[in-house]
Amino acid sequence: MTKTRYLTGITTTGTPHLGNYVGAIRPAIEASHDPNIESFYFLADYHAIIKCHDPEQIKQSTCEIAATWLALGLDTSNSVFYRQSDIPEIMELTWILTCMTAKGLMNRAHAYKASVQDNADSGSKDPDKGITMGLFSYPVLMAADILMFNAEKIPVGRDQIQHVEMARDIAQRFNHHFGNIFTLPEAVVDDSVAVLSGLDGRKMSKSYGNTIALFDTPKKLKKSINKIKTNLLEPGEPKLVDDSTVFEVWEAFANEEQTEYMREQFAAGIAWGQAKKELFALIDDQIKEARERYFELMDNPVFVEAQLQAGAEKARAHSAQLLDQVREAIGIVPIKGAC
Ligand code: TRP
Repeated sequence: MTKTRYLTGITTTGTPHLGNYVGAIRPAIEASHDPNIESFYFLADYHAIIKCHDPEQIKQSTCEIAATWLALGLDTSNSVFYRQSDIPEIMELTWILTCMTAKGLMNRAHAYKASVQDNADSGSKDPDKGITMGLFSYPVLMAADILMFNAEKIPVGRDQIQHVEMARDIAQRFNHHFGNIFTLPEAVVDDSVAVLSGLDGRKMSKSYGNTIALFDTPKKLKKSINKIKTNLLEPGEPKLVDDSTVFEVWEAFANEEQTEYMREQFAAGIAWGQAKKELFALIDDQIKEARERYFELMDNPVFVEAQLQAGAEKARAHSAQLLDQVREAIGIVPIKGAC
């Protein structure tokens, strides 16, 4: 039986929050237990330095994300869990792919275009103000991440679909020129997975400062949940589930029966305070064991680091071999026989 190979990266700039958990971490951990799937999950620290130039934040985030995934029960016997910067072949492949990537393709990347637009909106004379080559060529690094391991399926959020398509374009161009080396990757966006709203009702995201941390003390979790924005309806007044972040977060953690129960409570006019109290209990119950393991792991960096090193060793068994093939294909080879 051949397993389908999944790969995804997590940029190491923040602390995992409920939105990350529901949208990416939980499905990825489930997939790590699926015998039909071989997953590659990595900490994208070279992506992190594109936007974040604070070394403490990069270090802290790397540790928190690694501990989070391990605490939640990632099956490292059926998946490869590693740190991007531990795989030097990715950097080498990035340059090789850079030489096969049309600059015009990068000009069209959303992340770059958004920065150019911000400059125009703020009246700057220089459209490229504040834009580094790292930001501009970020899709090439992402292509190297993906192509390095011949990954087939790339679970990502909608904002990353374009980057996966670019990886595919780059792979096609390379293959056309040098022979079939790379597998063409495909983005997978799971619409059944919730995109959570944050405290203010906008998408939960570090950049909006509206997140609820996944692993914090129960007291802080409760406090954050109490900050979720609601309307001014009084206890006893029926409430709509559709425009409620409290209900949305409830649904992301509840089974069908529990969702039905809360739907009825909303119709019956449950008080916001009570709904939030029940929401806290629901989430806390689901994450408390993992939270305990998380704090243990955060106190045991030697163990976490050893897990990443073991992952890097497994990953490099693939990447070293593929890079040899790539170098051979492009003519970067030892001199043999007569020149
Ligand atoms: N750029 C992705 C993000 O911001 C993270 C990432 C880096 C990634 N390399 C990847 C995702 C390769 C999928 C595959 O979310």
